[in-house]
Amino acid sequence: MISEGQQAALSGERRSVILVVDDDANNLAVVRDCLVAFKYTVLVAEDGESAIKRADYARPDLILLDIMMPGIDGYETCRRLKALQSTQNIPVLFMTALAETGNKVKGLEAGAVDYITKPFQREELQARIAVHLYNRELTKRLQEAKELLEARVEERTAELAQANNELHEKAVLLEEEISERVLAEQELHVKQLQLEALNRTLETRVQEELQRNREKDAMMIQQSRLAAMGEMISNISHQWRQPLNELGIMVQMLRVDYDESLLDDAKIDEFSSGCMEIIQHMSQTINTFRTFFKREQTSARFEVAAAITKTVDLVQASFQAAGITLHLELESDCLIQGNANEFSQVMLNLFNNARDVLVERKVANPEISVTTWLENGQIMVVVEDNAGGVPDAISGKIFDPYFTTKHKSQGVGLGLYMSKVIIEGKMAGEIDVVNNSGGARFQLVLPAAPAA
Ligand SMILES: Nc1ncnc2c1ncn2[C@@H]1O[C@H](COP(=O)(O)OP(=O)(O)OP(=O)(O)O)[C@@H](O)[C@H]1O
Ligand SMILES: [Mg+2]
Repeated sequence: MISEGQQAALSGERRSVILVVDDDANNLAVVRDCLVAFKYTVLVAEDGESAIKRADYARPDLILLDIMMPGIDGYETCRRLKALQSTQNIPVLFMTALAETGNKVKGLEAGAVDYITKPFQREELQARIAVHLYNRELTKRLQEAKELLEARVEERTAELAQANNELHEKAVLLEEEISERVLAEQELHVKQLQLEALNRTLETRVQEELQRNREKDAMMIQQSRLAAMGEMISNISHQWRQPLNELGIMVQMLRVDYDESLLDDAKIDEFSSGCMEIIQHMSQTINTFRTFFKREQTSARFEVAAAITKTVDLVQASFQAAGITLHLELESDCLIQGNANEFSQVMLNLFNNARDVLVERKVANPEISVTTWLENGQIMVVVEDNAGGVPDAISGKIFDPYFTTKHKSQGVGLGLYMSKVIIEGKMAGEIDVVNNSGGARFQLVLPAAPAA
């Protein structure tokens, strides 16, 4: 049983409104008084139709409905109330004098929640009304709670859907990123493999390249030797001109002496030993050239002065033919470690270059001077001429391979390049050129070999 307090609490202090429908004015008055005493607000109606209108308008909390009424009876009124949306949830209690079960069932079927039998007792009336008002309130709250819950569920569902969408987008992005990374990793892997393969072949390639370079160098050396050989032939012809002349004169004199019957044993001996001497000299020249062209790969200690003198022997005659004066100032005991023939080849290149430029520029009083000395454990070799020097425009290029200012029949441009390869690459020295007041000054600096 619900107390008045509970009811008040449930209805939020609001007085519940009850519509009483009865065509019997006495009955109506009794019920109303009773309900007013119970602190309810009471509305009344005397027939079914006005009851429906009033209920639709006032929305009471509960309806007490008589069954037997003129016009539409209680059952029909109840049915119509239940059919109207505004009133269908209002609990209807039948008031009936009829105690038969059949009527009660009919009433409940029409949509009533309960019935009260007339004449009713106050307590029962109060109790039943209170229960149904309580039920109605609970139902209302349940409905509200349900709606609230539904709204929340909807809200949460929307939030979830949103979160789900975001998650989906993130998942898509993540997938893209992952596939990009996988791709990058694959590329990296391929690159790594290539790198490894490259590393494996690198050593071979370096060796191949080195070999190629060695072959190229060897080829260039050969080429410059051939060029020098051409030069030598012209030198030999200069060297032989004089002895050949002498031989010619001696042979002519033999004829004259014979015609004049001056030939005797002593004369013939003199003639033959004179000829032999000249032939010896010529053969000596050939030997000198042959030694120079011998391909000696050995490195040994040698005297700079001796090597230079030997080279001078080779060019002496051609220098004389060109009217060139050679000044030598060679310090003795200057020793170098290396290949003496290669060093001579460098000297020869410098001499030939100087001679060529002196002849080409038709220098009056052409001179070449060679000076060597020992300085701070280093051998200095200087070759100077008075031909005017290397033009500034080409001074940075004259040591480059195949750089030449000469006609191709006179030079291939390898002389200074080979000289640099020999001095700097093989003998750990340096070769440079500067112009002095008279002409070009080629300076070689070489590490001195310790005396034995
Ligand atoms: N003493 C010098 N004075 C002025 N110029 C020089 C002198 N020596 C060399 N040169 C210049 O340097 C160039 C290169 O000399 P390099 O000896 O390398 O080649 P080349 O003499 O021209 O030919 P190759 O020596 O192969 O027969 C020469 O062509 C010349 O122009
Ligand atoms: Mg040259």
